[in-house]
Amino acid sequence: MIQIAIDGPSGAGKSSLARRLAQELGYLYVDTGAMYRAIGLYMLRAGVEPTDPAAVLPRLGEVHLELKHLGGVQHVFLNGEDVSEEIRREEVSMAASSVSAHQGVRDFLTETQRSIARQNNVLMDGRDIGTVILPDAQIKIFLTASAEERARRRTRELQQKGQPADYEEVLADIRRRDHNDSHRAAAPLRQAEDAVLVDTSNDDFEAAYQRLYRLIQGRL
Ligand code: C5P
Repeated sequence: MIQIAIDGPSGAGKSSLARRLAQELGYLYVDTGAMYRAIGLYMLRAGVEPTDPAAVLPRLGEVHLELKHLGGVQHVFLNGEDVSEEIRREEVSMAASSVSAHQGVRDFLTETQRSIARQNNVLMDGRDIGTVILPDAQIKIFLTASAEERARRRTRELQQKGQPADYEEVLADIRRRDHNDSHRAAAPLRQAEDAVLVDTSNDDFEAAYQRLYRLIQGRL
């Protein structure tokens, strides 16, 4: 099986790029962030404080997650309910970032993620795919862009969806999540030694896609 790992901070364009690359290559696209988001959503709904591991970990037994690929698009089911839309809310982003700092939450998802990669050619995106989940992945990419550029893209995306978005607030959120993700003890966000660094600050989607596509084709 071929494994391609794409890691990087939030808003670098990982998921839209990875989705299109996977489609082009005929691989399964696995968005691991969606799994952390679904757990974050569960805890929010249950009134559990996402930052408190003593509160979160005992509740994991109540969480049943399934990933289904419908028409090539990944859908996440939380206890049978399709929550793919709801997990994109900003409130859920922060809860996902909080729950993902707990080692017990990471352990809960590790085997699921590895087993998908054993059974399919995958393009998996996340924070620790190249470092922890799939250390033997044939291709590892660390995709990044400046915090300001990521905030601009995210603000535009939210506004296009008709959601109110303030650039300064989005930027502050991105910085907070970057800090959480790279300073936590459990699987902090970092570039794997054998990963290729791709900075898309000055690329539009199409240019970034072409760069990644060529990079992957050159290594397969
Ligand atoms: O990628 P996305 O922004 O959807 O991920 C949501 C949150 O889940 C991130 O802020 C990050 O804290 C966490 N995450 C993680 N490890 C992954 C994927 C996501 O810790 N492999």
